[in-house]
Amino acid sequence: MRTDVVVIGAGPAGLLLAHLLAAEGIESIVIEARTKQYVAARIRAGILESASVDLLRAAGLGAGIEAEGEEHRGIYLQWPHERHHLDFTALVGRSVWVYGQTQLQADLVAASEAAGRPVFYDASGAALHDLDSDRPYVTFTDADGNGQRIDALAVAGCDGAFGPSRAAMPDGQRETWERVYPYSWLGILADVPPSTDELIYAWHPDGFALHSMRSATVSRLYLQVPNGTNAADWPDDRIWDTLATRLGHGQDGWRLTPGPITERSVLPMRSFVQSPMSHGRLFLAGDAAHTVPPTGAKGLNLAIADVALLAPALSDLVRDNDAKLADAYSGTALRRVWRAEHFSWWMTTMLHASGDPFDAQLQLSQLRWVTASAAGAAGLAENYTGLPIGF
Ligand code: FAD
Ligand code: DHB
Repeated sequence: MRTDVVVIGAGPAGLLLAHLLAAEGIESIVIEARTKQYVAARIRAGILESASVDLLRAAGLGAGIEAEGEEHRGIYLQWPHERHHLDFTALVGRSVWVYGQTQLQADLVAASEAAGRPVFYDASGAALHDLDSDRPYVTFTDADGNGQRIDALAVAGCDGAFGPSRAAMPDGQRETWERVYPYSWLGILADVPPSTDELIYAWHPDGFALHSMRSATVSRLYLQVPNGTNAADWPDDRIWDTLATRLGHGQDGWRLTPGPITERSVLPMRSFVQSPMSHGRLFLAGDAAHTVPPTGAKGLNLAIADVALLAPALSDLVRDNDAKLADAYSGTALRRVWRAEHFSWWMTTMLHASGDPFDAQLQLSQLRWVTASAAGAAGLAENYTGLPIGF
């Protein structure tokens, strides 16, 4: 087969890139290691920055967000006996939207199918070739076991943290940075209306807790747990009791309503960046190039911001053989990536119990400043709602 751009990975980065390229008249073929059902069912992120929502709307992908998304003006930050609301709209004039990654993924699949764009699901053994030339190609085995080869003008590595694209960069020409955290999240989905109108990020000496949501009837909650935790060791009652303690059930009359848990999983936390984000005709986007710990809800938004930069760069390259934006892509994307890396690290280390009493005092001091000072609050708000794409 032959196309303009081979996109490896049908997560949000890959499918959105294919959509944006099509809008510019550029052809692509997407290959995905998992089945369509598996990709559709993955429960992951839940918050879209205002720039992500603007981009999705401008790309004609805003209908689901309008119908089912919920705009939030801010968040609550709390610690025992205190809860403070940060009003992002008042502080920086931007909001965020609660819209699950599963919903966005469904919108992207629907748009891809409506336009008849080719996606090879269940593709194994993807390998990238001749990336240093202007005729790179990708080989893989399709769902029926047939060997396939796609020749293209560029390859977009949108294959997440474990795909082959990152490793296709030559060893001597890439640099990586990594931080592993000494705690994980236990995340649950529950069929119960949220007990809060906006998200609650809670510092507690026993560990962090987060009350998020997916809709008026579905809650999403997280607990800080030690690395290596087995979700099976957390029966429903233990989860709800721990959430109640950390989120302050009973504090100023606030109540956490428990309900049936429909999904539970443990997520390890990591910061990771690989630089540069391009090599020859290979361009990385999203989790293929970087990972953030989830506190601050940046992972999905970074993937969206990357492809917003990459689509026009690849269009110029493929259509006009103009490499100006393609050459600038890695540097431009990494500036914003590192801002989000810092914000995610900062939110994570401010809110998670480390077991060190000195850390705890620093965290509480920082939380008091962020909630009491307009300057402190505006800094958090500006980063949480997302800096402009290309910042
Ligand atoms: P992905 O969504 O990972 O998509 C990459 C795709 O490439 C996948 O479909 C994968 O199957 C495919 N692929 C991999 N290898 C190959 C191959 N060899 N050939 C072909 N295809 C391949 N972010 C938040 O902001 N908040 C959260 O609460 C949150 N929770 C998360 C929970 C989990 C368990 C995980 C893993 C991530 C979470 N994230 C969260 C991060 C967020 O979901 C990611 O940042 C986002 O999915 C990035 O999109 P992406 O398209 O770059 O990568
Ligand atoms: C969600 C996840 C996050 O990491 C976060 O900071 C806020 C919300 C969520 O899954 O809803």
